[in-house]
Amino acid sequence: MKKILCLLLCLSVPAFAQKFEGLALTPPMGWNTWNTFAANLNEAVVMATADTMVKNGMRDAGYVYIVLDDCWALRERDAAGNMVPDPAKFPGGMKALGDYLHARGFKFGIYSCAGSKTCGGYPGSMGNEYQDARLFASWGVDYLKYDWCSTGTRDAREAYTTMRDALFAAHRPVVFSACEWGHSKPWEWAKDVAHLWRTTGDIVDCYDCTQRWAQGWKVILDLQYSLVQPADGQNNGIGQYAGPGHWNDPDMLEVGKPGLTFAESRGHFSMWCMLAAPLIAGNDVRSMTPEIRAIMTDKEALAIDQDPLGKEGWRMRAQSGHEIWVRELAGGDWAVALLNTGSTATDLSIDFPSMWLIAGKFKIRDIWDKKDAGMNDQVFTKHVASHDVALLRLTKVK
Ligand code: GLA
Repeated sequence: MKKILCLLLCLSVPAFAQKFEGLALTPPMGWNTWNTFAANLNEAVVMATADTMVKNGMRDAGYVYIVLDDCWALRERDAAGNMVPDPAKFPGGMKALGDYLHARGFKFGIYSCAGSKTCGGYPGSMGNEYQDARLFASWGVDYLKYDWCSTGTRDAREAYTTMRDALFAAHRPVVFSACEWGHSKPWEWAKDVAHLWRTTGDIVDCYDCTQRWAQGWKVILDLQYSLVQPADGQNNGIGQYAGPGHWNDPDMLEVGKPGLTFAESRGHFSMWCMLAAPLIAGNDVRSMTPEIRAIMTDKEALAIDQDPLGKEGWRMRAQSGHEIWVRELAGGDWAVALLNTGSTATDLSIDFPSMWLIAGKFKIRDIWDKKDAGMNDQVFTKHVASHDVALLRLTKVK
C-alpha cells in the first residue's frame, strides 16, 4: 500500500509542484560575483571571498549565499546535454566548490537563464529546465538566480513557473531569484513562484547616472517606488507585494564599489534596508575598507532590513534636496530614513511631534552615530552629507 502511495505521489510531483516555502522569511543575504568580477569569476576568487567573509564577520552577520553569476559555464553543453563548468575557471568542479562553501557555513548559489542563452552568451535553460535543475541539485546548489536574456516571445510567468517546478521536482530546497527586470510586473504574479524578483534593470556603482543597461541606486530607488501608484492614498509603491518569503529585488549592492563615495555607499545600504531588499554584496570583500565592512555588518541596520514583519518602507515625503522614508517594524517600532538628495551637506529635520503616523511615545536611536537621540516629543535634526542618510530606529515605549 505504502509503495503504491509513494509511486502515485512521486510520479505526480509536477502536478503538486510549488515553491520551497520557509527559505526566505527575511530578505536573502549573500555575495554575488557579477558586480566586481563579471566574466572573470573563478573558484580561487570565490573561495578566497568565502574565507574573507568568515574572517571579517560577514558570514556571521548573515551573508550566507555565495552566488556564481553568469559566465561560469562552457559555451556548449556536453554530449549528454549537461551544462559544463569552464575547467579553466573551475578546475575542481562545482560539487567540490559547493562542498567547500557548505563546510564553511555558506550556501551555494548559481545562475542560469530562462532563454536559450544567458546574457553573456552561455547556455540557457530553456527546454532543459528539469535536466539543469537535477544537475544543480547534484552539485549541492541552494540558490538559483534565473535571468531573462534570449527569451524571444516566451511568457515570463510560464518560464519561471517551469523552472520552479523543475527545482521542486529535483527535491533540493533552492531559493529562487527571478531576474526578469520587472518587465511583466512579477510582483503581481510571482509570489508563489519565486522568493525574490528583480523590479528594474541593472544597477551600477554611481548615485544617479543612467547608462544604456544600468543605472545608479537613486534611479533604481525612484523606479521601484514609481512602479505602482495605489489609489488608496497610502502610496507605498510596490511595497504592498513584498513580505516574508517573497521580496521585491532592486538589484544587488554596489556598496564599497569605487564609483560611490563613502556617504553614497552608506546611503545606498540604508535605503536597501528601508526597502526590505535582498542584501547581495557585489564588492571585492578581500580589499574592502574597515568603514565599509562596518556598514555592511552593522547589526542595527541589518535588523531593519531583516525585520520579521517584512513590511517594505515607503517614501513619506520628497522635497527639493531631501526625502523622508518610513518603515513599520515588528513590535510597533519604526525605521525612519532622512536622505540628502542635494549635492552638499545640510541639516535635515523631521518634526516628530506633528506626525500622525508615528503616534505615541518612542525612543530614538541614531544607527550610524551609534547613539540615543532623545524621544519623539521634539524635532530631530542632523547634519547629513550629500547622498547620505540619517537612519533612525524608533522604539516604542510601552
Ligand atoms: C543581466 C542581469 C545581471 C547579470 C547579467 C549577467 O544583465 O540583470 O544581474 O546577471 O545579466 O550577464
